[in-house]
Amino acid sequence: MKIELTQSNGLLLTRLEALNIRTHSQCRAGFCNSCRVKLLSGTVKYVQAPLAELDKNDVLICCAIATSKVTLQV
Ligand code: FES
Repeated sequence: MKIELTQSNGLLLTRLEALNIRTHSQCRAGFCNSCRVKLLSGTVKYVQAPLAELDKNDVLICCAIATSKVTLQV
């Protein structure tokens, strides 16, 4: 499912949950990689550096915010 979100200081995971969009999460702290989604467009910033390894365009939504309008594949 493709989801568009506006720029905001809210964590992407929290924002998706507020919209009742089901996502995976466990640690909610950038360790486990379970919340990884694809960033299709836009930019994000991490509020804490993730420890999990990521491929290009992968985002851990538990610790990232949107710094522009973003489109995510969740
Ligand atoms: S929930 Fe574990 S890395 Fe995001």
